[in-house]
Amino acid sequence: MKITRQKGTKDIFLDEMNVWQYIEENIRNLCDEYNLNEIRTPVFESTELFLRGVGNETDIVNKEMYTFLDKGNRSITLRPELTAGVVRAYIENGMSSLISPIKFWYNANMYRYEKMQKGRYREFSQFGVEIFGSKSYKADLEAIIISSNFLDRIGLKGEYTLSINSIGCKKCREKYINKLKSYIKPNLSSMCDDCKKRYDKNPLRVLDCKVETCQEILKDAPMILDNLCDDCKNSFNKVINSLEKLNINYKIDKKIVRGLDYYNGIVYEYTSDDLGLAIGGGGRYDTLVENLGGASTPAVGFGMGLNRVVLLLEDMKEKLKSYVDVYFLITNDEGYIKSLDVIKMLRENGYKIEQDLSEKSFRAQLKYADKIKARYVIILGEDEIKNNKCILRNMENGSQKEICFNFDEIVDNI
Ligand code: HAM
Repeated sequence: MKITRQKGTKDIFLDEMNVWQYIEENIRNLCDEYNLNEIRTPVFESTELFLRGVGNETDIVNKEMYTFLDKGNRSITLRPELTAGVVRAYIENGMSSLISPIKFWYNANMYRYEKMQKGRYREFSQFGVEIFGSKSYKADLEAIIISSNFLDRIGLKGEYTLSINSIGCKKCREKYINKLKSYIKPNLSSMCDDCKKRYDKNPLRVLDCKVETCQEILKDAPMILDNLCDDCKNSFNKVINSLEKLNINYKIDKKIVRGLDYYNGIVYEYTSDDLGLAIGGGGRYDTLVENLGGASTPAVGFGMGLNRVVLLLEDMKEKLKSYVDVYFLITNDEGYIKSLDVIKMLRENGYKIEQDLSEKSFRAQLKYADKIKARYVIILGEDEIKNNKCILRNMENGSQKEICFNFDEIVDNI
């Protein structure tokens, strides 16, 4: 029986790989400009980390985790997201004693057992940033600037919406939740089963419900953004005013609460109309470090879903098609050996070179050179070998000329 890849996973190669590499190069350059440090943490962690970190009542923890017992009977989970893992690493490695704020980035695979659809996979990649040690709105703003800059830079300017909200701090949220519960209570029996559960365990998430009857009931519900304390209101306004000054387009969406439990304060999502899905999201999480056993440390961060970004960059595939500078067309062993030194020098000087590895005929090699989009072909036949010459063929216009077979002459002519 044929062995196939698992549902929700992908093989990435050729044209699509060029798009991934283009994105990854942009991530590296961008993160370098912001002096962010790359962090790599294990793919699997103790299940407890996500129960405590992401939250018992979230869909991710309840329905989507890849959890198993290892041979030592430990409960292990493939990371469904990376914020909790980075926080664990921050605490475990005593990073609070290093510089503050400390800023990290990652580009890594994560795993969620989700229902498959275009742009929704069970193994997917996120480019994420986590900044530890700043209470200031400037850290929130920096994370938004980096994430929007990332999307603009890779060519998605104008093709996404940044929606922003604040879900307040512990103080204002407690008050607000009482208000929200009083509003919902008379209609609770008409709401969906999920909302009934959320009402007790995580009332804020009721606002995120997509069921029409629930949405109708929630139409006039009080919103957290209108019930913030002065500190939260100030931070939110400062971020909004800065976005205006920076000409970063945004929309205030009072219903954004995010699907993970660790957030407080400013939260945001990037969505693509084309895909009808979120391409990124993030926010502040000032209590997570403490909840996972570290010293109280404010933090902000975001994660961008790269598989979705790749779908939006479909047009790039053609533009990023790789080409070869020179294909060496040689059909005899003497020419093959003679060419190796020149080929090595050309490669060391940044030229992309290909040669025959499978004893193809002259015609088949020419066809191959055309397929791999070689700009030039160098033909080294028996006569040319004798005279230390070669034929240089321009593949774009088909013109040919004889030149000396050495590094300098080749470089001068290509
Ligand atoms: P999240 O909103 O769960 O946040 O995921 C961030 C992004 O990952 C989503 O907006 C989406 O683009 C992508 N994503 C999520 N699930 C899938 C999937 N099944 N298939 C493809 N793409 C997916 C977090 O994970 C937070 N840790 C972000 C964060 C970092 N907040 C603070 N720091």
